[in-house]
Amino acid sequence: MEIFKAVASEKGVPSSTLAVCHTMILEDVSKLPQVDSSGISLSSLDESHLGLVNQMWKFAKDEIAVSMIRNMITHFPSCCVLDPEGKPVSWMLMYVSCAMGMLYTLPEHRGKGYAKVVVSTMAKRLHTEGYPVYCFVEPENMVSYRLFKNLGFSEDPLYKHVFYTFNEHKIFQG
Ligand SMILES: CC(C)(COP(=O)(O)OP(=O)(O)OC[C@H]1O[C@@H](n2cnc3c(N)ncnc32)[C@H](O)[C@@H]1OP(=O)(O)O)[C@@H](O)C(=O)NCCC(=O)NCCS
Repeated sequence: MEIFKAVASEKGVPSSTLAVCHTMILEDVSKLPQVDSSGISLSSLDESHLGLVNQMWKFAKDEIAVSMIRNMITHFPSCCVLDPEGKPVSWMLMYVSCAMGMLYTLPEHRGKGYAKVVVSTMAKRLHTEGYPVYCFVEPENMVSYRLFKNLGFSEDPLYKHVFYTFNEHKIFQG
């Protein structure tokens, strides 16, 4: 962070920190509680969902974000809950760093247990495929923090994750 800030300032390039997040890791997948997914239609995201995911992602909505999300949807694991019309109402993706992210439930569908199902499904799948299971949570996002804690994740004090703009581009640091 200090190096990026110093270089940006020296070159006169606009830069700013958007968020400094806790790293939450699931060390032991057997700690995942049983989550009832009966009656919930689960799927992976596809390119037709790109606009919706981009619209709801809080950090950016520009072309760079669109191409990043397209890459994630196309080449990496994802999970979503579909409504009866086949529209995603809750979802989670994986960044190229292998971190799970962009967890989101549409406001009218919150509190139905969808995020719990999506996170535990992704966590089991990533573990089975040999990935580490971790994600980032902003310190003020207590709902999300508790959600991951209750699913067996713990905070890794050694790592923070920073969303940082540099010359109007987003960069991601573990
Ligand atoms: C965080 C978020 C994904 C939770 O989605 P959700 O589908 O409503 O979550 P669930 O229904 O699975 O609930 C998970 C837990 O959070 C609790 N919870 C959900 N919304 C809550 C709220 N507004 N206040 C307090 N607790 C809440 C639930 O009671 C549940 O707790 P439990 O395990 O003790 O039963 C959703 O609020 C959201 O999209 N927020 C905006 C984006 C965001 O913050 N994403 C996370 C980035 S790390």
